[in-house]
Amino acid sequence: MDKIQINGSRKLQGEVRISGAKNAALPLIASGILVKGTTVFTNVPRLMDITSIRNLLEDLGAKCSFEDNVFTVDGSGIHKIEAEYDLVRKMRASILVLGPLTARFGHAKVSMPGGCAIGARPVNMHLSGLEALGAKITIDHGYIEAKARRLVGNEIYFDIPTVTGTENLMMAAALAKGRSVLRNAAREPEIICLADALNKMGGKVSGAGTPIIEIEGVDSLEPAEVRVIPDRIETGTFMVAAAATGGDVTIKDCNPEHIGGIISKLKDTGAEVILQEKGVRVKGGPRINSVDIKTLPYPGFPTDMQAQFMAMATIAEGNSIIHESIFENRFIHANELLRMGADIKISNGNYAMVRGVEKLQGAPVMASDLRASASLVIAGLIAKGTTLISRVYHMDRGYEAIEEKFSCLGADIQRIE
Ligand code: EPU
Repeated sequence: MDKIQINGSRKLQGEVRISGAKNAALPLIASGILVKGTTVFTNVPRLMDITSIRNLLEDLGAKCSFEDNVFTVDGSGIHKIEAEYDLVRKMRASILVLGPLTARFGHAKVSMPGGCAIGARPVNMHLSGLEALGAKITIDHGYIEAKARRLVGNEIYFDIPTVTGTENLMMAAALAKGRSVLRNAAREPEIICLADALNKMGGKVSGAGTPIIEIEGVDSLEPAEVRVIPDRIETGTFMVAAAATGGDVTIKDCNPEHIGGIISKLKDTGAEVILQEKGVRVKGGPRINSVDIKTLPYPGFPTDMQAQFMAMATIAEGNSIIHESIFENRFIHANELLRMGADIKISNGNYAMVRGVEKLQGAPVMASDLRASASLVIAGLIAKGTTLISRVYHMDRGYEAIEEKFSCLGADIQRIE
């Protein structure tokens, strides 16, 4: 299994280009199921998760191609409505095929995603939403089965905003008969990207980006070409790495409008953040101030950036309190940071008190999930000596060419096979 080796304590400097967003590309590719014909997605990142959804769609009978960051889905030949355990277990986001399969074929069988390292991650709101649209849902032998002659538009209220739940129901409602209203919907930029795609395909979706999304169902959707938005979490990861190393990095091809929460907290740490039209420059200050963070649904501070900020907080002046409010077990990286000399105390499971220390020391550490791996890379970049990160397959799920990108910024980082 590959490992990443980092010799730390170098300031990052230069320019880096941001890839397309994994969490926007996955629902877009799933939306290809809704269309009889070839839909084209550009700016798709080359990642393990993209391979996973491709394998799943091809198993259903779709024809896919992926070259030069252009991904095509031809949904005409889909002949199977069952997403099998062996494919779904590799990626929880496979649940995104449930809504589109039910909407187009009136029948879907999807292996129930289990929990994962960061939490239980139930899908009850996906299921109750589909029931509200008239699907009969059963759970049998680890599979969710949804059946409906044709889905019928309805009001759906989410107890808490769910990103993939909102996406699943937007796709389902797009082909339902009549009007649906999703209330307390997630507001992430990835939701707007999906709404734009559905509208390009001939769908009628309005209100995406607000808590109330209205969808007027149509009889069919047409092929379209859609560009994936820049990855705001990859953007934030490079911003934190720049600030934490006291570097000066210009991040290109990102959307500064999507990263307000990250910019605000980074400024609080003392970093200088200069906005450009499609970019952002981050200059690390002479010292890092401690900062308190609470993760929240968008536009609040993203849970997917919590681990990276914790890595920076380990060397801040003073104490930072980090409150993880989205997932119940998203502090696994803290134990690895402790191995590098950090001072972190977890209380009540979802509060971390990080007391800044002068320096981290390189150490062998283990990644437990995607964003935890990014946190350990940042820790390795700021630490004195050598850090060896194992289980980097977690990172390959969601960061395109990460070691090449950090190398170009002057980091001493390499993959060891
Ligand atoms: N939840 C329920 N019931 C549901 C659905 C969600 O209780 O039916 C809970 C979850 O357990 C969690 C909260 O609602 O406590 C929010 O979860 P959400 O459904 O929004 O998460 P998700 O859609 O499964 C997406 C991203 C995650 C990201 C979260 C939160 C994708 C493919 N995944 O997950 O990304 O952390 O939203 O922003 O979009 C990552 O990229 O590393 C990653 C984990």
